[in-house]
Amino acid sequence: MRHFLDLDLLKPDELALILDAALDEKTNHKFSKQAALSGKSLALVFEKNSTRTRISFQAAMQQLGGQSFVLDAGTSQLGRGETIADTARVLSRYVDGIMLRTDGHDKLEEMARYASVPVINGLTDKSHPCQIMADLLTVKEHFGDLSKRRVVWLGDGNNVAVSWVQAAVAFGIEMVVSTPDSMQIPSDVQDWLANQGGHRVSFSNDPAAVAGADVVIADTWVSMGDEAEGEQRLATLEPFQVNQACMAKASEQAVFLHCLPAHRGEEVTDEVIDGPQSLVFDEAENRMHAQKAILLWCFGLIGG
Ligand code: CP
Repeated sequence: MRHFLDLDLLKPDELALILDAALDEKTNHKFSKQAALSGKSLALVFEKNSTRTRISFQAAMQQLGGQSFVLDAGTSQLGRGETIADTARVLSRYVDGIMLRTDGHDKLEEMARYASVPVINGLTDKSHPCQIMADLLTVKEHFGDLSKRRVVWLGDGNNVAVSWVQAAVAFGIEMVVSTPDSMQIPSDVQDWLANQGGHRVSFSNDPAAVAGADVVIADTWVSMGDEAEGEQRLATLEPFQVNQACMAKASEQAVFLHCLPAHRGEEVTDEVIDGPQSLVFDEAENRMHAQKAILLWCFGLIGG
């Protein structure tokens, strides 16, 4: 069973193969022309809001000749207490794959344990691997390579940062995760990192870490679930805002990434997100291309 749950669970050559297939599909429409997912269906299960993940997966399935069905907690029995395990077993009787967006990584693992079809992580409280595959695709198509780039994360050490750290380890990318001391990436991820030989990931509590960055990344300061601490978080994170002064410290060729939705005027200014260094809409488009390749891999149509 090929689940796509986290980037550290796939071998680097499998991740590279998925990125190559995504680029081939984006450039040549290789798999769309073949209607490679004809006859396949995907359930998209949402316990949390989404714009990009929902529509990019639906568009990906449709363009590859397959079908998708959306299930959200507000209108399904999930919202009335039906278990993830039962949902997994039922959906597996209807569809060929399940994507889950949930507030608990343990629920994703439970879905994978009980499903008899591949399960894809569409964001949990711990990680967001589909997003980072799109980010990697964006960096690769812009710069032509991954491992030679210096990537600097500025802000909260959240689920997106965690998947970026896993990607940096897989591809040997130099990465600095610059966060306030109170918002470092979780300790279990730091422990995991300590056991990875030869990685080039480091941590900072100083926004000046942006110096020399080729890729500057920000994310919302108040993620879904963090709303109660909103005001305090904004104050703590203010020095980490990506504005023009911040981008001026990065390398001349630096690009800006943000997974969106953005809170303009908080983690990033209009000048940067709408400016010439911003790749955020290419990045959003690449969600669809990257996820096409993830689906092809999950369904055994690419890779060994
Ligand atoms: N970046 C991202 O996952 O967007 P959505 O929350 O809109 O799906």
